[in-house]
Amino acid sequence: MFFRSTVAAIGKYLPDNCVQNADLPQQLETSDEWIRERTGIAQRHIAAPHETTAFMATEAAKQALLAAGIAIDQVDAIILATTTPDNGFPATATRVQALLGMKRGFAFDVQAVCSGFVYALAIADNFIKTGQVKTVLLIGAEAFSRIVDWNDRGTCVLFGDGAAALVLTAADCASLNGKIASKEQGILSTHLYSDGTGYDLLYIDHTIDTPTKRGAVVMHGREIFKSAVQKIGEAVEKALEANALTIPDIDWFVPHQANARIIKGVIDRFNLPSEKVVVTVDKHANTSAASIPLALCEAVHDGRIQKGQLVLIEAMGGGLTWASAVIRW
Ligand code: UT7
Repeated sequence: MFFRSTVAAIGKYLPDNCVQNADLPQQLETSDEWIRERTGIAQRHIAAPHETTAFMATEAAKQALLAAGIAIDQVDAIILATTTPDNGFPATATRVQALLGMKRGFAFDVQAVCSGFVYALAIADNFIKTGQVKTVLLIGAEAFSRIVDWNDRGTCVLFGDGAAALVLTAADCASLNGKIASKEQGILSTHLYSDGTGYDLLYIDHTIDTPTKRGAVVMHGREIFKSAVQKIGEAVEKALEANALTIPDIDWFVPHQANARIIKGVIDRFNLPSEKVVVTVDKHANTSAASIPLALCEAVHDGRIQKGQLVLIEAMGGGLTWASAVIRW
């Protein structure tokens, strides 16, 4: 017996405090014009002290479970993609497990920065495909505002906070040998990549050797920007190839939301119709591992993404890591 992972429902949480570009601290010497032109960002949600990664993840998960009509005691695993855990250890997913009152199964975090959601999706999919679990809460949650240097205009204006969660459930796979028939709903493919030679391009300058230092994000944005479209392009090509698809077959392209110019580069490279691309970077800024599920959630809730449609997602981030997946919603 083979299984496929299907999306039962999706939910999200965004902090109440929404900060417009014009409301950023004056001493940053930035401007609405610079931020919009270089990134497409107009605003970002910033977490209050009680809105920790676990808190936001839990709220998003509750919404997804409610929408799926699935009780917490039916969930076998929580997989949380985050770069901003509540503590160095244990996994923030275990705190979410406790907050949800889940007394069974297992919970762990996945750390692949902005690619974290696609990495976690691939892990969840493999657990489900092998029949090891039936129901997974898959969450992307970040409180990036807590790890940026609020004196560094080159990074702090780019990021935002939030969380989104998917409930994935196992369905029988009609086709043979574990390969999902392309018309069946579910996760059709995942492709993960990393290149550790890019480790120093995006990191947090805090290590276990400097425990008293409060770390902050360091980013060599221009270098990352240069390789982004090419690396994302590779992952998109693999995703299409693996499913014998071409761009016109794709109903929705949901990219990681780091920079509108990177998204535009991918749109141009693949000649993607812009009306098929879900863009939320203007409203959410870069929410790292939460960006794709937040964008998916928005497009599902406003009725754009419909059951049975083909959705292609891609991400790139620290590591460097990059990834893609195709989901028949
Ligand atoms: O999601 C994880 C992966 N990360 C990414 O994908 C980020 C990829 N990189 C980017 O999105 C872009 O490189 C940035 C948005 C980060 C920066 O845009 P850029 O066009 O590469 O600008 P830059 O860093 O080369 O800076 C250009 C100028 C500099 O001034 P000078 O040296 O030319 O006088 C910066 O100091 O813009 C200045 N600058 C700012 N000015 C006003 C940098 N940040 C700001 C700011 N406001 N917030």
